Amino acid sequence: MRLAFVGKGGVGKSAIAGTFCRALARQGHPVLAIDSDPLPGLAFSLGLTISDAPLPDEAIEDKPEGEEGPRYRLRAGLTAADAIDQYAATAPDGVRFLQFGKHRGSTGRGLFRSQFAFRQILRELPEDRWNIVGDLPGGTRQPFTGWGDYARLILIVVEPTAKSMLTARRLSRLALDEEHPRQIVAVVNKAREAGDVKTVEERTGLEVVGAVPWDVAFAEAEEKMAAPIDLAPGSAAVKAVESLVEQLSAERIS
Ligand SMILES: Nc1ncnc2c1ncn2[C@@H]1O[C@H](COP(=O)(O)OP(=O)(O)OP(=O)(O)O)[C@@H](O)[C@H]1O
Ligand SMILES: [Mg+2]
Repeated sequence: MRLAFVGKGGVGKSAIAGTFCRALARQGHPVLAIDSDPLPGLAFSLGLTISDAPLPDEAIEDKPEGEEGPRYRLRAGLTAADAIDQYAATAPDGVRFLQFGKHRGSTGRGLFRSQFAFRQILRELPEDRWNIVGDLPGGTRQPFTGWGDYARLILIVVEPTAKSMLTARRLSRLALDEEHPRQIVAVVNKAREAGDVKTVEERTGLEVVGAVPWDVAFAEAEEKMAAPIDLAPGSAAVKAVESLVEQLSAERIS
């Protein structure tokens, strides 16, 4: 399974993605969580206490003079799989976590170098080793400029609000315009009423594969910078994400 969560800022991508990864790992699947948002997000929802785990400089080298290709790349001999094994953090339930470095005041040379290596890893990840779950930054810029190409399934997280639904429609059009064939579906988040799924389906034209209710447990987890699945394992929102995992792993795992 290779999927990515996208959607308007603040709709709940990181909370759902982190819970999804943990629940999938608990079913015995190897999971690689990818956070390409330079602002903090997925790590806490996975139950990691770090907020920054960039690729170290030693993993990256300058392209030799005269060679084609990007300016920086993974050190010679270091494959994408090696880079994950050596440098990705390990979250509870064995979820591996790779993150694009944080912005620290200025976008320095280190971040610039690591961006090339990060994108190279995304391009070269072996097909069959992990289930890949991506958490892409809010909005339209990253998902469709090569950062989410690894995903075969795009899950657009949608709140049942006018702006979120409009964003979802735009995102689905952008995703459909891409060269890569992939499925695009919606997950409703912060659902409060029985009719929310139908409203989202009608207003976005997307198939809704899951609905996560508004749940104070997610808000509390955010405040404590903890994983919802650790803090409130029996909560309605966590259970809804677990059902989504079960459904997708039965239907679409590959
Ligand atoms: N089902 C839910 N019920 C209640 N609160 C929720 C729910 N899902 C997410 N939240 C809250 O909404 C806020 C945004 O969630 P989150 O950070 O996961 O969104 P995001 O889409 O990743 O945001 P960003 O675009 O900034 O990365 C957080 O405070 C989170 O706790
Ligand atoms: Mg986020």
